[in-house]
Amino acid sequence: MGVNIVASCSLAALMVFMAASLFLSTVTVAASVPAVYVFGDSLADVGNNDYLVTVLKADFSHNGMDYPGGKATGRFSNGKNSADFIAEKLGLATSPPYLALSSSSNANYANGVSFASGGAGVSNATNTDLCITFDKQIEYYSGVYASLARSLGQAQSDNHLAKSIFAITIGSNDIIHYAKANTAAGAGDGPSQQYVHTLIQSLTGQLQSLYNLGARKVLFLGTGPVGCTPSLRELSSTKDCSALANAMAVQYNKAAEAVLSGMSAQHPDLHYALFDSSAALLRYIDQPAAYGFAEAKAACCGLGDMHAKIACTPLSAYCANRSDHVFWDFYHPTEATAQKLTDTAFDGSAPFIFPINIRQLSAI
Ligand SMILES: *[C@@H]1O[C@H](CO)[C@@H](O)[C@H](O)[C@H]1NC(C)=O
Ligand SMILES: *[C@@H]1O[C@H](CO)[C@@H](O)[C@H](O)[C@H]1NC(C)=O
Repeated sequence: MGVNIVASCSLAALMVFMAASLFLSTVTVAASVPAVYVFGDSLADVGNNDYLVTVLKADFSHNGMDYPGGKATGRFSNGKNSADFIAEKLGLATSPPYLALSSSSNANYANGVSFASGGAGVSNATNTDLCITFDKQIEYYSGVYASLARSLGQAQSDNHLAKSIFAITIGSNDIIHYAKANTAAGAGDGPSQQYVHTLIQSLTGQLQSLYNLGARKVLFLGTGPVGCTPSLRELSSTKDCSALANAMAVQYNKAAEAVLSGMSAQHPDLHYALFDSSAALLRYIDQPAAYGFAEAKAACCGLGDMHAKIACTPLSAYCANRSDHVFWDFYHPTEATAQKLTDTAFDGSAPFIFPINIRQLSAI
């Protein structure tokens, strides 16, 4: 009996210990990442474009039909997007849109800010007057950087930013524009490779600027297989993916990896995780049923062929089940797709997320 008591005591102790370590590991993730600073395009926009005069907006139905309250917020999705799921997994609130914060007199930038804006590209020339371009996002962020240094003091602000995650999703719009303007070009031809090379040169400078402004944990979400978006498929008579656009996405993601690994070799205090959205999302497109999808080609919401001729508006048709569609509208993934991709980026491994995943990046 005495033995039994000892045994059950140690079992209880073990369970308390396990509960405590579970609790501690949850706390560790939250405590090591105080905030997320988000940059990029419509894949992460949580409402910046609501404040712009532009056609690139999503603050009307049917967008948001599955968002809490069924509300259109400016997210280009039926529900939440990757920025929401990343924050959720880190135990943080979604970083609010910069243009919402900056219009208030006592803006708090320490809990994270999103500069992401639908339409943005690496190049200034992509949707110049229709969005907050990536260069402009960095310019806004430099103001935030200065403001944090004033309110927290330089040392504490640097420390705060070094622990924060800088999540960046940029490049899809540049590639989509190029592919739509060059439909006759062959996949991997010289000019398209040269164009991606030019994008990467800009991206190198932009990432260096963010490093100079305190970014030390970079999460880079590469471009998806944009040639398989309903919009680009619809251009082909056979409804195939644009091989040109997909080849550019592969080249771009590979080159972005080289830039980040070069930067981290040069700056040992820089850590990064690169998500190859192209490789990750192609799995759903090639084998939809294996990942719980029934439709990987047509958009859920839109009008015309493949629901891809006309955008998702209040007048558009939409599918009954948003969870079994890979694409919400002619360019954007559904909430279901964003959630599955984020799960892989958070806890997955190479060849999808490397050299470390988001959980490991956050624990540094
Ligand atoms: C892009 O625009 C920004 C201003 O928003 C400017 O500072 C930068 O030099 C421009 N870059 C190029 C390559 O034109
Ligand atoms: C919608 O699709 C998901 C994913 O394939 C499936 O699990 C769910 O049962 C479907 N819902 C309905 C109502 O058919």
